[in-house]
Amino acid sequence: MAAHSLRSGVHSFSIAPGLFVRKSTPEQSINDQNLLGQFIPLQYHYNMLQDEDRVGAFRSAIESSVRCGMHVVELGGGTGILSSFAARMGANVTCVERNPELVQCARRLVRENGLQDQIEVVQADATQYIPDIPVDVVVCEMLHVALLREKQTEVIDAFKQNYVRSFGSTLPKFLPEASILMCQPVEQSFDFAGYHAPVPLFQAPLVEQPRTQELSALSPYATFAYDERIPQHFRSDEPVVINQAGTLNAVRFVTQNVITVDLAKQNAVTWPNQCLVLPIETPTHVDCGQTIDITFSYAAGGSIQQLADSLCVQHGSSHAQRQASPA
Ligand SMILES: C[S@@+](CC[C@H](N)C(=O)[O-])C[C@H]1O[C@@H](n2cnc3c(N)ncnc32)[C@H](O)[C@@H]1O
Repeated sequence: MAAHSLRSGVHSFSIAPGLFVRKSTPEQSINDQNLLGQFIPLQYHYNMLQDEDRVGAFRSAIESSVRCGMHVVELGGGTGILSSFAARMGANVTCVERNPELVQCARRLVRENGLQDQIEVVQADATQYIPDIPVDVVVCEMLHVALLREKQTEVIDAFKQNYVRSFGSTLPKFLPEASILMCQPVEQSFDFAGYHAPVPLFQAPLVEQPRTQELSALSPYATFAYDERIPQHFRSDEPVVINQAGTLNAVRFVTQNVITVDLAKQNAVTWPNQCLVLPIETPTHVDCGQTIDITFSYAAGGSIQQLADSLCVQHGSSHAQRQASPA
């Protein structure tokens, strides 16, 4: 398991009876608020340092975007590793972190790396933080599959609003530059050593998953750039065409992040999150060429349970009927 997946741990998920709809209890909602990735334990941060795909993608994007003398702000700096890449390019960096334990940790590590003259670690809520001087590049890695749990969109949106009020409408460059949210129907083995457990699963991205049979191509349901309007709610009710017969018993969520596009090198630096496989209540056989409707709706930064509660899979035609029927 990639180190980064540790912060993707599923907490308090349970399946209530019902055809397609699952409801969370008040206790689960409270747990989700506490565990939504807002206060990632220190040890998980140490493990995130080992996630070479994640660190390598941000390092490469920072090295191609940051120049000597720039002012870089990192929102949610954690241990400070991403800030260090900008500082090593000669930038002056403000590393904003809310969790006091991490602020102490980042300050210690920044000193140990001799970067204390270039990186200022500021303890603040990034949604409230307003820099003293204009910013060239903003780095923010609060990314989670389907943009659930962590507050990437809320934090960047708030930062942009605060920034425009202070410095006018010319925004800094954001890393990541964009996110693409996709889903697909799958046949998933939920058999674990003979024990049937249809529960949400995280999967490493871009590797063969022998327990998962893809039943259609990926369907994008949201694509946006962070320097444009950022959606705070995601929904889908698009029809999906099956290209592989099988038993549809789960929906896989796949999130790809474009950390930067290097036009000179004609190269995009991307980093996909862990994938999320959510079981559906009533597995159904599907045939090649058949159309099905996958519908869901959830708030950006919301819980896995919120997405699971809203998830509904139906045999096709309902979409066409909805289009035809008056609002
Ligand atoms: C996934 S971690 C990434 C940490 C670091 N950027 C890295 O790449 O290792 C997200 C960080 O954002 C911080 N964070 C979350 N919400 C925040 C907020 N509103 N203001 C400041 N920091 C926040 C968390 O405490 C956590 O350290």
